[in-house]
Amino acid sequence: MVRMLAAAKINLSLEIVGRRPDGFHDLVSILQEVTLFDSLELESADSPSFASDAAALDVDDNLVVSAIRLMSERFTPGVSCRARLGKRIPVSAGLGGGSSDAAAALVGLSRLWQTPGTCQDYMQLALELGSDVPFFLFGGTALIRGRGELVSALPDGPERWYLLVNPGLAVSTARIFATLSPHDWSDGTATLALAREMEAGGDPGFGTNGLQSTLFRLFPDAHRCFKEVERLAPGRTIVSGSGPTVVARFDSAADAARAAESLSARGYWTAAVQNRDREGGLPCP
Ligand code: C5P
Repeated sequence: MVRMLAAAKINLSLEIVGRRPDGFHDLVSILQEVTLFDSLELESADSPSFASDAAALDVDDNLVVSAIRLMSERFTPGVSCRARLGKRIPVSAGLGGGSSDAAAALVGLSRLWQTPGTCQDYMQLALELGSDVPFFLFGGTALIRGRGELVSALPDGPERWYLLVNPGLAVSTARIFATLSPHDWSDGTATLALAREMEAGGDPGFGTNGLQSTLFRLFPDAHRCFKEVERLAPGRTIVSGSGPTVVARFDSAADAARAAESLSARGYWTAAVQNRDREGGLPCP
């Protein structure tokens, strides 16, 4: 049996560069793992099974089940796995929970079954599962390009405190991307400048999020939530990915906890987290 932790991510910046012929969008984004975790237990079995403490998850069709199927087909035909997922990361929230669970399944099964395979093999399986899954094979902080398959690690930054705030909406990433217009596109230079600053040892704040205004147009409650958080952290607030989770940066754990208390009292889901250093589970450089 192997036990894995699957971390949530936030986007420190996210630019949409354009639409690709395959229907996906080319992105330039900086992703950061944070200390909010799902847990995944994997055990070899003759027939597959999946259980979770999250009622909202489809037990036959989710990214962990798909990851197990891919790994078994590719490396260990006839051997399958019993999986148990403890869900703490909100679903359809822009925090990459499902993608992180899928990556944890790939890494966990590579250990359980001692599968061979290069970083490139696992990256390919990861991309088949979803655009954010390749990042989670690296973890820590990284610059993402293309659809999500071009991942370059960035240095672990100093300790930072973030508050995650969710208005309790489930947002479909596909719907947000489908509603984008070319006005939401940009050339990626703002995010690349941020990445350069981080590479040089700097600790910049947030960049920009090209999905944010579409989210606000489709979900007024997400906009209301953003404005409430921004009041407590002016100029230090961004939506993570396609949302609706809002991320605010604070100078200390105490400041983040104080803001969490006031926003929880208004009915929002909150989690005070820190940036997570890179651990790297697979033979990826
Ligand atoms: O890859 P993933 O399944 O996470 O993406 C969900 C949806 O978001 C895709 O079906 C696509 O419509 C959209 N998307 C996109 N460009 C990306 C990532 C996602 O258009 N780079």
